[in-house]
Amino acid sequence: MSAKRITVVGAGHVGATCSQLLAQKELAREVILVDIAEGIPMGKALDQWESAPIEGCDTRVYGANDYSLSADSEIFIVTAGIARKPGMSRDDLLRTNAGIVRSVSEEIKRVAPDSIVIVVSNPLDVMAQVALETTGFPRERVVGMAGVLDTARYRSFIALELDVSIEDIQALVLGGHGDTMVPLASYTSVSGIPLTQLLAQDRIDALVERTRKGGGEIVGYLGTGSAYYAPAAAAVQMAEAIVKDKRRILPCAAWLQGEYGMRDLYLGVPCLLGEGGLLKVLEVELTEDEKAALTNSADHVRSTVEALKALG
Ligand code: NAI
Ligand code: 2OP
Repeated sequence: MSAKRITVVGAGHVGATCSQLLAQKELAREVILVDIAEGIPMGKALDQWESAPIEGCDTRVYGANDYSLSADSEIFIVTAGIARKPGMSRDDLLRTNAGIVRSVSEEIKRVAPDSIVIVVSNPLDVMAQVALETTGFPRERVVGMAGVLDTARYRSFIALELDVSIEDIQALVLGGHGDTMVPLASYTSVSGIPLTQLLAQDRIDALVERTRKGGGEIVGYLGTGSAYYAPAAAAVQMAEAIVKDKRRILPCAAWLQGEYGMRDLYLGVPCLLGEGGLLKVLEVELTEDEKAALTNSADHVRSTVEALKALG
């Protein structure tokens, strides 16, 4: 199973890596890479297509500075935006990226009104709300990527700590994408064995803390940008679940409508993904501490939404 067309908006680090993965996995007949930067999407797309004979994949990759090739794309992965630079406040980033995601969403609505949007741009939970409100799409068709990445980071750290295969580690990270995210130790197991039986609490706490700061750790090394290999892999895993109707349960930012006692905000929760996008939000039992942490994370997302409103 594959899509006819998937568009990736933003041909930067995350976007270009997404298009390469989509093509290598042959998740669509065509992948369109769109960016406002002159020449860049065309150059990267052609370079990727020239790797097709080596990789043995038939997905055509095209680049464009507009949406003329993107009509009727089944899925859009939105990675357009700027990263914070010296001298810029968080509010500068919020306002700029909201403007970008708004204009991108207008185009998506115009050229592919039945598409599914996977939002990656930061601040993630708020940008997903901007995309939902601008497209006017139902919540089933606008989901945010964060939990798959945060959970992957958590799983990768556990595998290193225990020196076991990554394949045997199941975990769940909920909440907003940021330092308030909620890695759930109670839903973490290694081949079915609860993590608490394999690791002391202080080690679990250290891995949870490293997960919360995972994005910052990469920024600290790179200096001039943020992570992109794992983020792109995460967004493409969501696209694959939808394109192949795999009915995977993945942690994604979903527009809550009463689940977990919350309404009208995006927050990372376990989601059933398949044909049509978000098929269901799963409500899992949480301890009192986990509930409090999720509420704290939701409060943080709400305050960022308010900050954006105040900016006008
Ligand atoms: P980047 O700077 O490498 O690429 C961003 C691209 O967006 C640039 O090529 C730029 O020209 C393009 N762009 C700007 N305005 C545009 C518009 N109106 N239409 C089309 N393209 C436009 O940044 P990178 O590293 O690829 O990150 C992209 C975004 O994803 C950032 O906001 C970043 O914070 C976010 N991110 C989110 C993650 C998550 O877990 N949700 C993980 C990693 C990154
Ligand atoms: C990350 O978590 C920057 O949101 C991005 O790496």
